[in-house]
Amino acid sequence: KAQALEACRKILAENDQGGYTIPAKGLYPYQWNWDSALVSLGLAEMEEERAWEELDRLMSAQWEDGMVPHIVFHKPSSTYFPGPEIWGSPDKPRNTTGITQPPVAAISVRRLLEEAKDKALALAMARKLFPKLLAWHRWFYRARDPEGTGLVATIHPWETGMDNSPAWDEALARVPIDDIPPYVRRDLGHVDAKMRPQKAEYDRYLTLLYRFRALDYDEAKLYYETPFRVTDLCTNCILHKANEDLLWLAGATGACTDESEIRGWTARANVAFDTLFDVEAGLYRCKDQLTGQFLPAATSAGFLPLFAGVASGEKASAVARTLGRWLDDVAYGIPSCDPRDPQFEALRYWRGPVWLIVNWMVSEGLKRYGYGELAQRVERDSYELVKNGGIFEYYCPLTGMGAGGGCFSWTAAMCLAWLF
Ligand code: DGY
Repeated sequence: KAQALEACRKILAENDQGGYTIPAKGLYPYQWNWDSALVSLGLAEMEEERAWEELDRLMSAQWEDGMVPHIVFHKPSSTYFPGPEIWGSPDKPRNTTGITQPPVAAISVRRLLEEAKDKALALAMARKLFPKLLAWHRWFYRARDPEGTGLVATIHPWETGMDNSPAWDEALARVPIDDIPPYVRRDLGHVDAKMRPQKAEYDRYLTLLYRFRALDYDEAKLYYETPFRVTDLCTNCILHKANEDLLWLAGATGACTDESEIRGWTARANVAFDTLFDVEAGLYRCKDQLTGQFLPAATSAGFLPLFAGVASGEKASAVARTLGRWLDDVAYGIPSCDPRDPQFEALRYWRGPVWLIVNWMVSEGLKRYGYGELAQRVERDSYELVKNGGIFEYYCPLTGMGAGGGCFSWTAAMCLAWLF
């Protein structure tokens, strides 16, 4: 155990670029939004000041309108595509992307403050970050729920963080592939192609990027003009939990804010989440906002309403039963897609592999609802995976083999903050 802890600390130290952490060398050479927020939980186990710096650097990239971008391009790198000159242009590269990612930051700020040894530092940092977090959440409701449904829209698979989840197959297939400039995928130079999204998906990821760029990432236009618009469970569950934590932070920091605004968001979402529950499947599902239909794939995001605390006791028990069945079907859980689904691919990124950050969120949710034994099972599987497979981006649910990027920051962070 001591050796494993040391290995995790070493990974975070080596991926530290001086105030921010990259997810993995070569494959992801910049600061990623939700990676960074989750990594701060691991950093806090090593050096609290450095954990706060991680969040501070991320929130410093916030746009004037409140959006916090999905990647911050601090330093040039030739190992990733699409980089700053694609999100901007070769003459005018941008220093961030123009889309966001699941808003984990407020969740991390609360946990860091609650567990801080240096309370004075923690309070000062939480006070500094609070208005930025609030502005980001406000942006979500203004830019991504202009019709006031209570749930926010996601307009690019990269925003969901679960890029090639089978949940997006139908909605993404309807995006026409534009006549985009030829490109070379750098990811395939780092990771086996059978573990990564396919060309048809990348062509559409880039089509969306170029369309958003042509609209100058104008929040008022993107929502109405994007050909891909979904209600993503991961984003909405994390936003809901983050709102709950923002409310807690308002009290703990004495922030001067109208709490009824945040309470309004959570109250409306609480009702709206019910529309995402699929009784037959015993699981929550994402929706295609452009057709109003459920997205049929059953994915691990369907368990996250427990993390958000929005499921009734009855729905939580159905979700726990479904999870138990999934776990029985694999050697190591939680697979990112129902192993019985035809779309399940054990090694391909978000179409089957196990991700420790999802396991952590689901296990927190299970404990919240009193499913301690199931939570322990998820924790045990996670522990076995890193013990036998090393610190990877994700793992094969059938063999436990580590896959994707190696020496991976958020997996190391989950070991430090959760498993060890
Ligand atoms: C990638 O490039 O694979 C990332 O997931 C985009 O955020």
